[in-house]
Amino acid sequence: MTMINVNGIVGPAHEATISVLDHGFLFGEGVYEVCRTYHGLPFLFDRHTRRLRESAARLALPVPFTDGEIRDRVDDTVDAAELGTTDSPSAYVRLLLTRGVGEISYDPSGCPNPTLVVIAKKYVPPGRDVYELGVRIAMVATVRNHPASLNPLIKSNNLLNNALAMQEALRQGAFEALMHNHRGELAECSQSNLFVVKAGSIYTPPLDAGLLAGITRAYLFEIANDLGMTAAEVPLRDEDLLGADEAFLTSSTREIVPVVLVNDHRVGTGHPGPVTRALLDGYRQRVEALTRNGRDNQTAFSV
Ligand code: PDD
Repeated sequence: MTMINVNGIVGPAHEATISVLDHGFLFGEGVYEVCRTYHGLPFLFDRHTRRLRESAARLALPVPFTDGEIRDRVDDTVDAAELGTTDSPSAYVRLLLTRGVGEISYDPSGCPNPTLVVIAKKYVPPGRDVYELGVRIAMVATVRNHPASLNPLIKSNNLLNNALAMQEALRQGAFEALMHNHRGELAECSQSNLFVVKAGSIYTPPLDAGLLAGITRAYLFEIANDLGMTAAEVPLRDEDLLGADEAFLTSSTREIVPVVLVNDHRVGTGHPGPVTRALLDGYRQRVEALTRNGRDNQTAFSV
């Protein structure tokens, strides 16, 4: 069942409460991370805590917890959700850190105690068709936040930009919403990063296109390297995607998802391509090797 840890106290979802004077609620002032467990281990957890700290620093939000304390809270919450640690279901883990409770004022000095929440629930994977047939994504009109306005590098709880983009995609029956940046280049999707494959090489927009530094995105470069493939960051425009041989999305919860249609344009053959499949296989093999011993293997979250 879903279990939620609010400031160290674990309980069922209906008992989890936050003050309406928390600036996370009042102003959307907070940051978050999403990861999943494999065999009971939160995968690449060190990278998630590092990014949480980087996001928080961009809001001048203190993180008065060690990585070990954050990890203990995650483990406590995952254990309480009783999803099992070996062959049984994985957990979806959402970690939220907000400014905390204070006066209704933008002055952060009135909020001395940040709120730390962990949500752990059963991980529900995308359907098999998503990986076997690929998905259709929609290019939406909502432009990704300008980095000088609200930097997409901040994994912020303030998700209106993403939610509005995804609403457009949902209205079009699409799996994901692909956003452009203020220059008209491709940026990223509402909950995932974008890659294209052309003539055997892999490309993704650079961080200065205004996007989240996805942990799976960075990991993809390591997998590509293992497989002897070349991957590079380059600005991408619509024609690069529409003329690509393959395209795919990456995220912690979805791994690597083949894209076969963009609006009504077919990408490549219209089927998941060989490079995408090889990367997904490589990703899953690496995950399995790093996590199969469960919490006895301490490298899976420290690589
Ligand atoms: N989404 N871009 C955006 C805007 C995201 O929200 C995410 C993550 C990603 C992929 O990042 P990573 O590989 O670190 O998961 C890219 C998470 C999974 C979510 O919001 O549920």
